[in-house]
Amino acid sequence: MLTTKLNTLPLFFSLPLAAVLARPNPAGPNGPKPLELQPSRVVLHDAHWTGGNTCDPGLCRAYRSPTDGGHDLSTLLTFTYPPDFNGKTCWLEFATPSVSQGGLVDVFTQWSPVNTCPSAANNRDRDLGRMSVPWGGGKATWIETYNGGSYMTAPGPCTGKPGAVEGFEVVGVGDFVNITWMQLPGMGLRVLYLT
Ligand SMILES: *[C@@H]1O[C@H](CO)[C@@H](O)[C@H](O)[C@H]1NC(C)=O
Repeated sequence: MLTTKLNTLPLFFSLPLAAVLARPNPAGPNGPKPLELQPSRVVLHDAHWTGGNTCDPGLCRAYRSPTDGGHDLSTLLTFTYPPDFNGKTCWLEFATPSVSQGGLVDVFTQWSPVNTCPSAANNRDRDLGRMSVPWGGGKATWIETYNGGSYMTAPGPCTGKPGAVEGFEVVGVGDFVNITWMQLPGMGLRVLYLT
């Protein structure tokens, strides 16, 4: 697989390849512009056993540090699919603002979305894949996929029944990572879709 070889290449080789692998619009440059679905709930998860969850945190983070005493932070996002989502094509896109540091994140599914606070669990399920987040913000690129085939890492059939909810978790990878964003139009983790 090209994506596997990518990681064995030096960074200066992998960057242009990563750009080629990015699929900004699967319908082609002249195809219909994808629409985006924003999460219906955003929760900041502190992995420390005393940490717990904060609903609607404003600033979302994927944070890990060897000096934070175990208070690593991830962000849980619930998507509620509108009633007319049958037959649509969906995938995930993640973008950060210019103030954000870069690094790697893994995107997990949740076995059940977290929508209420106070609460503690993150309900982590499958690791869908790893994204490279550019320093100084911009659109992240999938560099590996893991336990979902191409589910949500590339355009494919939208999940679930109309009105279904689905939760994802954005988790920092590495010894130190501090990726920050607000969920706004064109920003953060969104489900992009074609009708
Ligand atoms: C993490 O990023 C936020 C927002 O950019 C910043 O305020 C904070 O100082 C950063 N923390 C570290 C440890 O780099």
